[in-house]
Amino acid sequence: MTMPFDVTPSGQACGATITGLDLTRPLDPGSVTALRAAWLEHAVLAFPRQAMNDDHLERFSRYFGPFGDDPFIAPIPGREHIIAVSRRADEQAPLFAENWHTDWSFQATPPAGTCLLGITIPPRGGDTLFADQRAAWAGLPADLRERLRPLRAIHSARGGYAPEGLYGEADRAGDRSMAIRPSADALATQVHPLVRTHPETGEEVLYGCLGYIIGIEGMAETEAMELLLEILDWQTREAVQYRHEWEPGTLLLWDNRSVLHRATGGYEGHDRLLHRTTIAAA
Ligand code: SIN
Repeated sequence: MTMPFDVTPSGQACGATITGLDLTRPLDPGSVTALRAAWLEHAVLAFPRQAMNDDHLERFSRYFGPFGDDPFIAPIPGREHIIAVSRRADEQAPLFAENWHTDWSFQATPPAGTCLLGITIPPRGGDTLFADQRAAWAGLPADLRERLRPLRAIHSARGGYAPEGLYGEADRAGDRSMAIRPSADALATQVHPLVRTHPETGEEVLYGCLGYIIGIEGMAETEAMELLLEILDWQTREAVQYRHEWEPGTLLLWDNRSVLHRATGGYEGHDRLLHRTTIAAA
């Protein structure tokens, strides 16, 4: 029997809140199918007031696909597929994931989705921003769309996770609470079309952005950077955003194929802890 649930759209560019489900209990296949449809439509689903533990988080993730591979961040003790997104109240290291990105887009087969469970949530700040790349694409001038359609973007984790990167060896020697493991593997590159067809919905979307995208195949670096900066404005303008304000016990599920996201600060003096799983592309 399919469990009924309510879907309340955020009223912003994407995102919806799901109520009426207790995710500490198994879901029936009909509910999973209905949730998948809601996920594809709204791109970001928030499930507030869940009393989930790590077993529940893993089971929920698996409804949407196999676990993805999380490079450069060690899992939490005793779990292979959960990483902690954490920050201590007194931490001085630069904020984790503050730049717009879609998760692990530098992989050959990047993940379909991500789950993030709010555990310790500061009283203010620490929102997660999303930018709907379906809306961003639809909002581009037609001539820019035509220019972008044939382009292939070069992705790499080097700016973040290479030994010289933002989370590299110098950062690791500092006071970072997250278990980040920089590596020369981050120097690798991977090419993906800049404009992709969503594999499940068939929609055209912009995929990835400046940051993990470090160049455009066959284009001079300066020209590529100018273009990537120009489209980043379109990709992240307020009209395509959803701002997620956290509460303890909220589970978030997002579609990396449809949205960019980034962390925000503003909670100095307060701890923040979330557990994250990655859903591989089917
Ligand atoms: C992430 O990109 O997984 C982290 C987002 C956040 O900390 O708000």
